[in-house]
Amino acid sequence: MTSSTMSHTPADVSIQPRNLSFDVEAALATDWHKGDPFSTAFYNALSIMFPVGEQQFIDSVKHYRDRITDPVLAADVRGFTAQESIHRREHQKYNEALCSSLGYSLDALEGPIRRRIDWAQKHMPPIVHLGATVAYEHWTAILADALLRRPEMMDGADPHLAALWRWHAIEESEHKAVAFDVYRAVGGTPNMRRRLMLAITLEFAWDTLRHMRAMLKDHKGSKVKLWLGGMKFLFGKGGALRGLGRPWLDFFRRDFHPWDHDNRAVVAKVAQSLSLKVAAAE
Ligand SMILES: [Fe+2]
Ligand SMILES: [Fe+2]
Repeated sequence: MTSSTMSHTPADVSIQPRNLSFDVEAALATDWHKGDPFSTAFYNALSIMFPVGEQQFIDSVKHYRDRITDPVLAADVRGFTAQESIHRREHQKYNEALCSSLGYSLDALEGPIRRRIDWAQKHMPPIVHLGATVAYEHWTAILADALLRRPEMMDGADPHLAALWRWHAIEESEHKAVAFDVYRAVGGTPNMRRRLMLAITLEFAWDTLRHMRAMLKDHKGSKVKLWLGGMKFLFGKGGALRGLGRPWLDFFRRDFHPWDHDNRAVVAKVAQSLSLKVAAAE
């Protein structure tokens, strides 16, 4: 590979952070996602992971900054870092407001993730950290793509939170190949990223479930009904995870690249409608 072909993000995709701020505090005290405690807990559970997880993504990519000779990929990395830094800021604000209004302990929720990252820092080489980021970025890319393609997933949700999730989905799509391109440029192999994808999928599901259980433990009414109804939200017709099996499996192809899933048109469309509704941060 020559130095000029390290970046495989399409030339018309700009990886620029939008410095936005979202007024989500009041809504987070409620079942903001369509009045449904289960689906609200699902999105809140994901949010809890982002400030810690995205810092780890940034660190794992920045570790290889000096090895990137392609100026286009170097600019992609700067855009990726800037976008993820603002995601962290907004989700930290989100998580603090959520935990203080509903009485969750942010430390208890984040603790196991922090300890796992600390353990991995001590025992795993940098290429494994980067490969794990590549796998997580594929997960965020396919979840984001579903959210952008199916506006009904956020229709009826609190408008400020709907805007936050759409904004995050747009930027996850724009930078979805950055960690991947760095991984490939520094010699990361398809086999390692495949193995890491299997491990990361279990870890991601486990963390999501753990957070949701903590958030729903004081739910009044039948827990069985709540979780059965929740399965419909996740896997039923139009469900949040419905249709993700195929794009998830594509990651296991030897020649896979994130932009094989070309969603530029839908990203541009949602980005345009979002810019009409959301104010910039001060
Ligand atoms: Fe992000
Ligand atoms: Fe990301």
